[in-house]
Amino acid sequence: MTFDIKKIRADFPILSREVNKKPLIYLDNGATTQKPQVVIDKIVDIYTNYNSNIHRGVHYLSSYTSEAYENSRKTVQSFINAKYSHEVIFTSGTTGSINTLADSLCQDYIKPDDEVIISELEHHANIVSWQVQFGGKGVKLKVLPINDAGELLIEKLPELISEKTKLISITQVSNTLGTVNPVKEIIKIAHQYNIPVLIDGAQAVQHTKVDVQDLDCDFYVFSGHKIYAPTGIGVLYGKEKWLDKLPPCQGGGDMILSGSVSFEKTLYQRLPFKFEAGTTNYVGAIAMATALEYVQGIGIENIENYEKQLLEYANKKLSSISELIIYGNAKNKACVISFLIDTVHHYDTGMILDKLGIAVRTGTHCTEPLMKRLRIDGTVRASMAFYNTFEEIDVLCSGIERVKTMFF
Ligand code: ALA
Repeated sequence: MTFDIKKIRADFPILSREVNKKPLIYLDNGATTQKPQVVIDKIVDIYTNYNSNIHRGVHYLSSYTSEAYENSRKTVQSFINAKYSHEVIFTSGTTGSINTLADSLCQDYIKPDDEVIISELEHHANIVSWQVQFGGKGVKLKVLPINDAGELLIEKLPELISEKTKLISITQVSNTLGTVNPVKEIIKIAHQYNIPVLIDGAQAVQHTKVDVQDLDCDFYVFSGHKIYAPTGIGVLYGKEKWLDKLPPCQGGGDMILSGSVSFEKTLYQRLPFKFEAGTTNYVGAIAMATALEYVQGIGIENIENYEKQLLEYANKKLSSISELIIYGNAKNKACVISFLIDTVHHYDTGMILDKLGIAVRTGTHCTEPLMKRLRIDGTVRASMAFYNTFEEIDVLCSGIERVKTMFF
């Protein structure tokens, strides 16, 4: 397929609007992505034509919506190449998935004095979820460090592993620096010690082909809204052997075995329902499947290839701007550039770029420990998607020059 950027951009209505009387240049895709018309139409279609609670009625609408919901699970299964569709649990997003898993693992599997290994690149969701669940149990987080380029020092991983290590939980792509981590290698090392691995794919699935069987990860999580789907929906993938034995962490609704509830004891549903208590975000799940099909229609390889060229171009152009410092120079990077203009505060840069219609994220990007490691209090982050253009990078660079004229 030829990559028709004009046609692709026309699929996203928001991209043709103006902000501050300038054409919108949306470079905050790491925070959330924009939605194609097919996804917007799907949400309207569900509420207009067949909205009904799932798995709860014998009537036509409920059966229709339930089937659409379960078909969405199969779409996710095929998108990440899970072995079974019941290994796909719908959650509220990456944070919801990690919290659910942390809660479940900490009931029996992770015991006082045990250890979980994360990395210095992690988003707060993969730090604080664990701390919340560890409570006062004395479970420790051990941290795999990075080098100055923002790459994991994976040769240090065996030193961190001990007989107390119960899980390794690592991001596939750093949301702040764009570093692509060698997760397959990490999983291989972990499995030599019989340690399961959770991969945070929030910043990966939208940029590269993810095959959970090929990775051999035990758990994989991602958010719908970062892959062109609505907010409030995400995925917790887990190998059947793990999810089967883990306890549920929320009670009610769909997770009970029908006819088993009593005041003394209740039996739980089989997978995947055991982990889907209450009315789930079925509209989000169905619309997420539409988004994944849209991505499949363009081809994740085509997206990856285009974004690679865009990153190379952006990197070259931004590197040539004097006084601009890029944070994160890993050999393998996704389409993200974090930077500062000399001593100009990141908020000031972000505000001025906004006046020019350019949306970037500023601040710590929910990675405060990483900021401490880099000895800065924030960056400006341009995170690109396959609908961004080379011309937009040129406008970003002119915007940066404009910031410089105002400060120097
Ligand atoms: N985690 C999101 C980001 O990196 C919100 O911006």
